[in-house]
Formats: sequence, C-alpha cells, structure tokens
Amino acid sequence: METLILNPQSNTDIKKAGEILRNAGLVAIPTETVYGLAANALETKAVEKIYIAKGRPSDNPLIVHIANFEDIYELVSDVPPKAKALAEKFWPGPLTIILPKSDKVPSITSGGLGTVAVRIPSDKTALSIITESAVPLAAPSSNLSGRPSPTCFEHVLEDMDGRIDAIVKGEECEVGLESTVITLTTKVPKILRPGRISLEDIEKVIGKTDIDTAVLNQLEQGKAVSSPGMKYKHYSPKAKITICKQSFADYKKIFETDKNATALCFNGQEVMAKAVKYGEKYDSISQAKELFSALHKLDEQGFDNVYATCPQLHGVGLAVYNRLIRAAAFRVLEPDVHIIGLTGTTGSGKSTVADILAQNNAKIIDCDKITKDPSTYTETCLNHLQNAFGSDILKDKVLDRKLLAKRAFETSEKTKLLNEITLPVITEKINRIIQGYKNNGAKIIVLDAPTLFEAKADELCTAIIAVNAPEELRLERIILRDNLTKEQALQRIHAQKPVEFYAQKANWLIDTEDGVDIEKIIEIVKSLKGD
Ligand code: TXA
Ligand code: MG
Repeated sequence: METLILNPQSNTDIKKAGEILRNAGLVAIPTETVYGLAANALETKAVEKIYIAKGRPSDNPLIVHIANFEDIYELVSDVPPKAKALAEKFWPGPLTIILPKSDKVPSITSGGLGTVAVRIPSDKTALSIITESAVPLAAPSSNLSGRPSPTCFEHVLEDMDGRIDAIVKGEECEVGLESTVITLTTKVPKILRPGRISLEDIEKVIGKTDIDTAVLNQLEQGKAVSSPGMKYKHYSPKAKITICKQSFADYKKIFETDKNATALCFNGQEVMAKAVKYGEKYDSISQAKELFSALHKLDEQGFDNVYATCPQLHGVGLAVYNRLIRAAAFRVLEPDVHIIGLTGTTGSGKSTVADILAQNNAKIIDCDKITKDPSTYTETCLNHLQNAFGSDILKDKVLDRKLLAKRAFETSEKTKLLNEITLPVITEKINRIIQGYKNNGAKIIVLDAPTLFEAKADELCTAIIAVNAPEELRLERIILRDNLTKEQALQRIHAQKPVEFYAQKANWLIDTEDGVDIEKIIEIVKSLKGD
C-alpha cells in the first residue's frame, strides 16, 4: 500500500485525513505525547487494521481520543465526579482516564474488557483531525508493537511506511512520552502508566491514588494485569541497556574499564567517547521529551552495550524510569553502598536529620568541617591559592580563611577560581573517608553538605535528601543558633538558593515545620536497605 504524506497546515490535507478515517482507513497523527495510529474507534473493521499494522496482540486495548468533553458520554456508562475533576484540570492534555464502557464501544477497541480508555489530546492538529473525522479515534502509539513510541515524523515513517493509508507530518512531540493512564474503576484510583501528569499532580485533584505494581516491577509470568500493555515487551531498542544507580563518579569508572560501552546519559555528562544524551540532569521533563529519540539513536548508531544514568523516581521522573527500565529489560546495577547527599536551606534542621540518620547506622561525613580543616589542603593546593589570592593569605603556614574568603568572594570569577583550586582536594579527602567507611562495611554513608551542588559533591552521591522549613521558622532558628540580627539572618537566607532548587534535585524532601519526622527518616533508611 502506498502511504500518503499529509501536511497539517493544509486544510485539504486535514479534510483528506478525516475522509480516510470515516472510510475505515488508518492515519498516523501527531499528538502532544507521541504520534498515534488512528482509526474510527466505533467501527470494528477499522480498529482491526490497527492491530494488523502494528502487529499488536488483540487483548491490548486502545485509547479512544475525543475533541470535546461531551463526547465522553457515548463511550462510557458513567462519568463519576473524579473523572469530571480530572478532565476539568488536565484536559485537553496528556492524561487518559479509564471508565466502564458503553455498548457503543466495540469489544475490539477495549481489548475485550468492560472498560474503555479515553483522552482529549491538546495538540491542535490532533484536535482538528478528530473534529474533521467526526468520529472518536482509537489511537495507540504509531510504532510496530514492542518498539519505542515515535516522537517525530521520521520515526513513524520508519515503522509504518507502506502499512497504513497516511501519515500527517507534524512537528516533534512536545511531551515525548505517552499519556498518564489512570483507572477510576478501582476503589482507589490507580495509575497504570505514569506520564507527564504525575502522581503528585493527580493527588492534588482527587486525593489518594495508587500506583500499579507493574509500573516499576517486572510481571511474573501468567499473573493477571490491570493494564494489558504492561505485560508485553516494550520500548525495546536493539541495544542491551543497563541502568546504573551508582553515583556519577562510579558510573564514569565503567567506561574506563569497558572501552566498548556506550553512555546513555544527561547533557554535560558525556565524558565518555561514545554517548547518547537524554535531557538535562535533574530535569525530568526534558528527559521525558528526549528519551525515545535517544533510544532510536542508539539503534541508528549501532550501539549495543549501553549503560544508562538513572532518572529520579518521583514526579515525571517516574514515567521516564518506567519506560527506561523496560527498554533495559529490567537490568539494573544497584550501588553496593548508598551515599546520600544531605543538604537544604539554612536553619531547616539538617543537623537533626543527620543525627537521626546516624542513630540508624548511617556514617555521617561533615563536609563543612572538612572544608575548614587545615589538613585538607595540600602544599601544592596552598601554593596555588597564594598565587591566585596573594601570599599573605598564609600566615606561619596557616591559612587565613577570613582573608581568603574576603578576596575570593569579591567577584564570581574569583569564587570560581577558588573552587577550581580547592574542590579537587576536598573531594579527594571526602573520597578517602568514604573509602574508609566502605572498607569497614558501612552500607549507608551520608555527606552532610550545605553546598552539595555548588561543590559538585552530588556526583559522589547515589541519592539526595533535602531538608526545608518555612522561612519564618528558619529565621527564628538561625537568629537563636548563631546569635544574628534579623537583618543578618535574612541576608543569609536570601544568599541561599530557594527551596525549589533543592526540591527539584532531591529524592526526598523533608519538611521540619512540625518537627523532624523520625518515622519518615527510618522509612528512607529501610528503603535503602531494601527492607
Ligand atoms: O499518549 C498516548 O496515550 C498515546 C497517544 C497516541 O495518545 N497513545 C498510546 O496508546 O500510548 P498505546 O496503545 O500505545 O497505550 C495504551 C495503554 C496500553 O498500555 C493499554 O494496555 C492501556 O493503555 N489501556 C488501554 N485501555 C485500557 C483499559 N480499558 N484498561 C486497562 N488498560 C488500558
Ligand atoms: Mg504503545
């Protein structure tokens, strides 16, 4: 079959797409998540063609796309208040809601289930094609079954040319991962597939929501599943991928010993000869957008032995991890020792958290103390400091830290220079202490570091805890603790990064407004030990 290429800017082409769909044909269309392979959802012979074109197992149900909320009433037998609340907040957009189906939806569309998945996409081209076709459109991702979902026209062409009637050549998809799928047919709503709309976003609207176990875990053979899509091989590139949960410092070592390895890592981390990048570190939205095209690139470049850095396991990061772990066929390298960065805003109660971690068998490294300790600085390092900041910063071979600080913090260039000179020796010392604890059998080591990120010590960590409290409370605490005036305290607070900076990077954010939640800290320790 010859596949037509249609232009979304052309009215004639949009009309053509609508006509093909009304006549039971198949059209690949762009959406904000990934490209979809659309057919009339209410016509069995049209939907059958989707399963054939994709090579998709027939018990894997499809998502039905509509353009207006009212259109949901012909597809489902009931629209509960939670569905309305979610639709109100997130539609049009990357959220799919599962509800009991109406008799109008043929069994082939719902994969034989009594429920149906519905979504209103936000992409303008998708909406105009749904409107033009005047039927609800069943549309799975427009890839061959088992392959990564297509996020640009070229990916669709590669998988579908000659198999379908037409492809609408739109832009690259904005979200880059498929929609979040939530079912409202269980007692507690449950996320079956995470996406750009996160658990946290959803709970703000409808309260307690579960996450299906299949999201993070490999299914046992023959076990019943809530979402049939979860049981099939998915997102698999040809390459063998292994996810690395080690620190970035240990991750880099893999490439020193294995010269054939390729890195699937974040921008700025491509220290290895062979690397494919997927987004910015600590920015799950950009990782989501780029993951699938990165998987395609691995194949195009013929890379086969790939080690991937690990996304965060919360927010949109959970969706990135959910796809990546399937692409990696659940191969994960766990760290043998957990190195936890402990940081946060000043006066937030970080030391109390450190104390509780210590009581639970964690070894604490006080990075501030190492920075202030004269023995940290080697003679070469001190010479460099003198050359850069004046020989009088050393008095009787002792570093005058106040004078050094005064000179180094004059301009941002000088601060950068100070860091360039001192960070390597500080890191070296921290590494020696870490190694010592490791040799003694420690399983959890905590780097207590207010400037964890500035000092790049996050690269030594396998996870990060950030501590915070409301500004009023922190102000009160540091005035008392350090005997400051209110102005001095405010100045110190405002010289620091805002809480969002820490929250975005942390695996856990601990708020100490109502005191330190000891239970939560114990829970974190237990999760690290795998208890
Ligand atoms: O972003 C998206 O959702 C894209 C675009 C095209 O809209 N579509 C998409 O469809 O990803 P697909 O077919 O690749 O994934 C649909 C997922 C599958 O895992 C399927 O098993 C699940 O949703 N699903 C669909 N209907 C369901 C139902 N009634 N009950 C449980 N799971 C269902
Ligand atoms: Mg799919």
